[in-house]
Amino acid sequence: MTEEDRLTKSKSAPDYYLRAEGITKVYSNGTVALKEADLEIHRGEIIGLLGENGAGKTTFTKILSGLLPPTKGRVISPRGPVRFKSPREALSFGIGMVYQHFALVGTFNAAENVALSHDHPFSPIQLTTTKKKLQELMDESGLHVPLDVPVEKLAVGEQQRVEILKVLSRDVDLLILDEPTSVLTPLEVDELFSLLRRLKAEGKSIILITHKLKEVGSVTDRVVVLRHGEMVGDVPTAQASTEQLAQLMVGKALEEASSAVELQDKGLPAGKRTRANVRTKQPVLVVDGLTVKGNTGEIAVEDLSFEVYGGEIFGVAGVEGNGQSELVEALTGLRHAESGSASINGKNILGLDPREIYMMGVAHIPEDRWRLGLVLPFTLAENAILGVQRWEEFRGPMSFLRWGKINQHVRELMDRFEIRAAGPNAPAKSLSGGNQQKLIVGRELAKDPHIVVASQPTRGLDIGAAKYIRDLLVEMRNKGRAILLVSADLDEVLALSDRIAIMYEGRFMTIASPSDLDRETIGMLMGGVAVKEGAA
Ligand SMILES: Nc1ncnc2c1ncn2[C@@H]1O[C@H](COP(=O)(O)OP(=O)(O)OP(=O)(O)O)[C@@H](O)[C@H]1O
Ligand SMILES: [Mg+2]
Repeated sequence: MTEEDRLTKSKSAPDYYLRAEGITKVYSNGTVALKEADLEIHRGEIIGLLGENGAGKTTFTKILSGLLPPTKGRVISPRGPVRFKSPREALSFGIGMVYQHFALVGTFNAAENVALSHDHPFSPIQLTTTKKKLQELMDESGLHVPLDVPVEKLAVGEQQRVEILKVLSRDVDLLILDEPTSVLTPLEVDELFSLLRRLKAEGKSIILITHKLKEVGSVTDRVVVLRHGEMVGDVPTAQASTEQLAQLMVGKALEEASSAVELQDKGLPAGKRTRANVRTKQPVLVVDGLTVKGNTGEIAVEDLSFEVYGGEIFGVAGVEGNGQSELVEALTGLRHAESGSASINGKNILGLDPREIYMMGVAHIPEDRWRLGLVLPFTLAENAILGVQRWEEFRGPMSFLRWGKINQHVRELMDRFEIRAAGPNAPAKSLSGGNQQKLIVGRELAKDPHIVVASQPTRGLDIGAAKYIRDLLVEMRNKGRAILLVSADLDEVLALSDRIAIMYEGRFMTIASPSDLDRETIGMLMGGVAVKEGAA
């Protein structure tokens, strides 16, 4: 604050940094995303913004950050109303947002992307300066990314880090993070949170959108809750119990809400409770000596061998970027394997294209859902039948698609997976982030496949939806399906898996039953420390 600012700020001046008043947002298709939502943001506080998938969190913060205009209502600062015509204007004012869906230029590296986000066109000299600044910022924040690799070659978690660094490099007063932690490892989350605390101590304001109540408790000062577009709660974190928050979010009976919280916060073994001993004699998936290269030509999966049986959930845990993505891509036909073999029910799958593998009964919930999972401009109905449009029931005479049947199928999916959308003909891009994910997960699991390859299946889902998907995976397991679960969420892997592999630098450090692994051991294995041999 300058001296002048201090003088003009008389005693009676309002003490907030920004205030949203009566914000209503009606999208062009008539969806009312926000109804008269208010929020006062103070300096030096971290606000947790909670709400179910589709509650309006992203819409609200996009309005604050200048990406969307409100239909009604206003945003005011102590100096008067502010109206941003673009995120750039909001940034110059001091508001920066890290979006749920990244806005990076794929062919540019991290440094170029950050330089690009600053106003001027960038020169080689500037790029050098940006790199230097980024290096400092990375050291300070604990968020590390390779600076020289095109960002499209980076893992989702790394891309997220680039987005965060991009906004941090702008020195904002209000930092808005839309589900930043869903793609970060636990260690990175800790580092990000210490950074947020430091920013807060410097007097910055932060809005953190998350579905994880544990995170809310650990880092926020105040929690606000949106439900169906309305602000239904505003409580100091210290006074809010997780049960209360869950209840505010879902507006349902406490019992139901708290069981979802339990699963999420404690990683309760919902799967184990219902465990049926159904493991098949023969493995469904057999991988032998598989070696796969990553985007930059390095060995990402090295001489890996394992089997996944029917009736088991085989969990792959580990810090993201240790070959999990490459493994999944190789098994689903999205990436060429260098050597080794992989088969499903005895039939080779390496070298086949994704469609052929799909047709062999492999369902794939991809990690990078916005790139691989959905065609955003397409409607829900079109997206819901991607890959299954050859199903008999969807085909009419002369191979015409039977849209009546398809729409009915979509309505069932919407019902079953609680996909909140205007209807089967709404474009996928009009769905909230979590609802887009439910659409993919629903589409894939509805195929009743032999094997499900699920990468981060509950990432970005609200607690109710996450519980539903986890229960469904367990149910499929109990029906004898094979599940390969890759998840950065350790609680999830521990809760669901029958066997767990810890992946580190392209290899499995161990394959064990969850009951034989404690957290400390897992932590060490995730860091590449072989436990039996001691911490060498
Ligand atoms: N471009 C759009 N056109 C039409 N409707 C939209 C658009 N974007 C979002 N919506 C709708 O507005 C509502 C709020 O969406 P929003 O993305 O703000 O939810 P959210 O709270 O961020 O959910 P999530 O946790 O799933 O990310 C949803 O019903 C969604 O379908
Ligand atoms: Mg959102």
